[in-house]
Amino acid sequence: MIDMYNKNYIDEKTQVYTEILDEIDSTNEEAKRRIKEGASKDFVLVARKQTAGKGRKGRSFYSPKDTGIYLTFTHFTYEAAEDVLKVTVATSVIAAKAIKDALNIDCGIKWVNDLYYNGKKVSGTLCEYIFKGTYENIRNAVIVGIGINLSTEDFPEEISGKAGALISADNNSSCCDDIVIGISNGLNLFFENCDLNAYMPLYKKLSVVIGREVELSDASGFVDKGTVEDFDEEGAIIIRKISGELKRYDSGEISLMLNQNQ
Ligand code: BTN
Repeated sequence: MIDMYNKNYIDEKTQVYTEILDEIDSTNEEAKRRIKEGASKDFVLVARKQTAGKGRKGRSFYSPKDTGIYLTFTHFTYEAAEDVLKVTVATSVIAAKAIKDALNIDCGIKWVNDLYYNGKKVSGTLCEYIFKGTYENIRNAVIVGIGINLSTEDFPEEISGKAGALISADNNSSCCDDIVIGISNGLNLFFENCDLNAYMPLYKKLSVVIGREVELSDASGFVDKGTVEDFDEEGAIIIRKISGELKRYDSGEISLMLNQNQ
């Protein structure tokens, strides 16, 4: 069903090069290889299939051929450190907007970066930061990897209850190019000044967790519980504990408690 990107192109306005790959292990990994080989201008890689798509927290991202969008936007910067949380938060808004514009579908956002539709996760973002010097490159780079399940079916058993798609496999909508261009241009605009303020109102509006009871956990095994009160200007989550105390977290993963969808 996918119209899919039959050519590589350079965007006239932004001069960002977009390359379409038939098959790759992971567009994020390929971006790193290109940096290592000396790439120095922002570029976008889009794959029709990934054989080893990566998710956050070491998970994999199911990426079968021509059923989803697997995209990595690489941005080079002279800044000392781009705030990965800010980029991740802005990316969710940018992806949700690109999906809305192309398909008229409203996705919800689960902090930090997951997009939900009909109670199922349809998209996620994996941002990675390459520090200058890692590959003897002169600049730092932010690698923004976005996966969208467009018409993906038959998910692996371990995610089949949680993962979903935006449209059905027999839908002939040719929306891929529009979504890719929407995301590319959106990220390009964000990287002009990395100002998250312009994105937070829509992020909060689309949030499916504000006012919900959640459990927050991090890689070290730390767990906290409370009700989501808000997000701050840096994209961190503010949780109100049962005691009434407000806690701010700028990393970790939340899951909705009780019978709420997550
Ligand atoms: C997550 O939900 O945990 C993040 C998923 C990110 C998947 C995308 S697909 C394009 C890019 N290449 C990868 O290997 N991962 C990201």
